[in-house]
Parts: sequence; structure tokens; C-alpha cells
Amino acid sequence: MKKITLKMWKEIDGIIQRHKEKSGALIPVLEECQSVCGYLPMEVQERISKGLNIPGSTIYGVVTFYSFFTMAPKGRHIIKICLGTACYVRGGKPNLESIQDEFGVETGGTTGDLRFSLDSVRCIGACGMAPAMVVDDDTYAQVSKQNIMKILDGYK
Ligand code: FES
Repeated sequence: MKKITLKMWKEIDGIIQRHKEKSGALIPVLEECQSVCGYLPMEVQERISKGLNIPGSTIYGVVTFYSFFTMAPKGRHIIKICLGTACYVRGGKPNLESIQDEFGVETGGTTGDLRFSLDSVRCIGACGMAPAMVVDDDTYAQVSKQNIMKILDGYK
């Protein structure tokens, strides 16, 4: 599990201080804290609860309601496999399965070493590149079981 470092705690406290007196502070505080830590574990939620004087159950409710927030750490690299129609018919699903098998990770999950998080998406607007894969900010065209591992090898 990715640790919350001392530096992160300081940033979290700074975010809370900056928003403390404002109304509607919770969502922006959660957003900023998630961008510092990469996720919102219970210990961070408790700190926010104390700092903003909002019950922990309210914070937990917000974090679990919005899919943008996550309580699980994300990997260093985010892989998105397109399963929109054009990509699906050209092999998107076997591509996704080959990554699941190779790294032992489910869709929506993260590898134990926090190297990759894996997601499937519905059409990224690059149907001419089908089947497409996005890794972080890079889009790859015509990916296949054969070239996927080579591509991912470049992401440590
Ligand atoms: S279906 Fe994959 S980019 Fe459109």
C-alpha cells in the first residue's frame, strides 16, 4: 500500500487550512488531497474530518458516491483499453485479457507493485486507430497481443 509521506501530510494540512473557513469546502479539499496522495485512504479522510469539522461518515459517503474519488491507490501508469465498437470488433477484448493475464490485474484494479492500473473505456474518438490503447497521455494504434507487452515494457 502506498504510504502517505510526511510531505503529503503537510500538503494535506495546508489544503485544509486554505479551505477551512469557506462554505462547500469538502469537494475541493477532497479533490486536492487526492491529487497529492493519488487516493483517499481512511487516515486521510479522518484528517479532513477533524480539520473541516465534518463527520467522517459524511466524508466517506461523498468519497464512495463519486466515481472520481478512489480509496485504493492508483498505479504509476494508467492503461486504458478501448472497448468501443470499432476497437471491440478488432480485438480490444483479447488485448485487455492479455494484460489481465500477464500482470494478474482485473479491470479497474492496480498491480501489487503499483506499476499499472488497468481500465477499459468506451471509444476514445480514435476509431481509425482501432484497436487502441492509451497509456498515461500516449495513444497507441492497432495494438495486439504481440506488441502490447513491448509497449508496456517502456513504462516502469
Ligand atoms: S471505438 Fe475505440 S476509439 Fe472509437
